Amino acid sequence: MTRINLTVDGQRVADDVEPRMLLVQYLRERLGKTGTVIGCDTSNCGACTVHLDGTSVKSCNVLAVQADGSSVTTIEGLAGDDGSLHPVQQAFHECHGLQCGFCTPGMIMQSIDLLNTNPNPSEEAIRLGLEGNLCRCTGYHNIVRAVQEAAGVSTGSTTGSTTGSTTGSTTEGVGA
Ligand code: FES
Ligand code: FES
Repeated sequence: MTRINLTVDGQRVADDVEPRMLLVQYLRERLGKTGTVIGCDTSNCGACTVHLDGTSVKSCNVLAVQADGSSVTTIEGLAGDDGSLHPVQQAFHECHGLQCGFCTPGMIMQSIDLLNTNPNPSEEAIRLGLEGNLCRCTGYHNIVRAVQEAAGVSTGSTTGSTTGSTTGSTTEGVGA
């Protein structure tokens, strides 16, 4: 067993873990953060995406011991203390950027990272930025619309506040 110390959704945690334990397993099985889901276990689907020190990672592709000393944010750490949704969560809600919702936590975490890097992405940049996240339901159109909507309201911070609103255009094209 190896001792790890990290911050998860603002809470400091210390634990002994097997060196082979994946970060996604640690989040779900030890911390009960089941909002982060496992869709493939082969680094393909992106459903397990979280932020590691502010950058999106597929948590099935990271060992828990590799997160030692880091700050992890999951989908469960995005809402404000008053329960208000993060602007990207709100945009997915308003644009109906989901159907079954299985891919949604990873899509939102990846979208936030995308907007942190590029606050005003083109449709092409959005599709490129989300190409590592698979959705079997939506055809991606409303997901792209949600990110376009969020680009108008997100400050670019993981805990950013709403500063305004624009309406994203409906676009056609291949899935991300
Ligand atoms: S569960 Fe991690 S990429 Fe699919
Ligand atoms: S909403 Fe069902 S997989 Fe994306």
